[in-house]
Amino acid sequence: MIIIKTPEEIEIMREGGKRLAEVLNKVKAKVRPGISTKELDDYAFRLVKEMGDRPAFLNYQADGAGRPYPASLCVSVEDEVVHGIPKTGRILKEGDIVSLDFGIVHRGLFTDSAITVPVGSISPAKEKLLRATEEALYVGIDAARGGKKVGDIGYAIESFVKTYKYGIVDILSGHGVGRELHEDPYVPNFGRKGTGELLKPGQTLAIEPMLNMGVKEVIFDDDGWTFRTADGKPSAHFEHTILITDGDPEILTKA
Ligand code: MF3
Ligand code: CO
Repeated sequence: MIIIKTPEEIEIMREGGKRLAEVLNKVKAKVRPGISTKELDDYAFRLVKEMGDRPAFLNYQADGAGRPYPASLCVSVEDEVVHGIPKTGRILKEGDIVSLDFGIVHRGLFTDSAITVPVGSISPAKEKLLRATEEALYVGIDAARGGKKVGDIGYAIESFVKTYKYGIVDILSGHGVGRELHEDPYVPNFGRKGTGELLKPGQTLAIEPMLNMGVKEVIFDDDGWTFRTADGKPSAHFEHTILITDGDPEILTKA
């Protein structure tokens, strides 16, 4: 069921989204060669606690899946696409790219956002992948308008990505968000114009393209959470929580 948020809920999600953006910015500033992915997770947890909010992913039980997610932040390095589990032994090194995905629950409402950032200086090919993935997110957001359909978002992203040779991960998608972390509808990063559910003002969506430098296929790790690319090539991921309006979409997870 697609949930239209009340003006009061939207106001709370605006505040939550702002706080989430602040956490991601602060965690991003800590990214450097030599830091462990666990240190980033601990830092994000501390920040969200200081704000008086709750990390949305910690202990999250995915539908039908094994164990609950054991951390607050998803940290996905290089060929890890999403849901990388932070570890003390996983040390970032110069030239890596790392996706930081975080969600918070502020006054009962969820927001969800992700960025992929360089560790030190990275190759031009990785720079290009990051720029294209972030742009794909904004192209998708721009297509998310009241009166349009969910398929218009995927169509916009897919058409934009066609100009590159990247693989669009198609077994994972964006989603409704707000009263729960994952609500209807699914928001795939590919699609056909004018198809799928109608977008209505007051709907809140997480749009999250994942682009692989190589093939689109991904492998599910034995740890029960991590998705990595099938060919071992790097992958990038950007995500915002947005509000559908009568006009321009509003990005809620903006600093
Ligand atoms: N942004 C991710 C998603 O929407 C984060 C989920 S991690 C989980 O799927 F642990 F909460 F599942
Ligand atoms: Co999400």
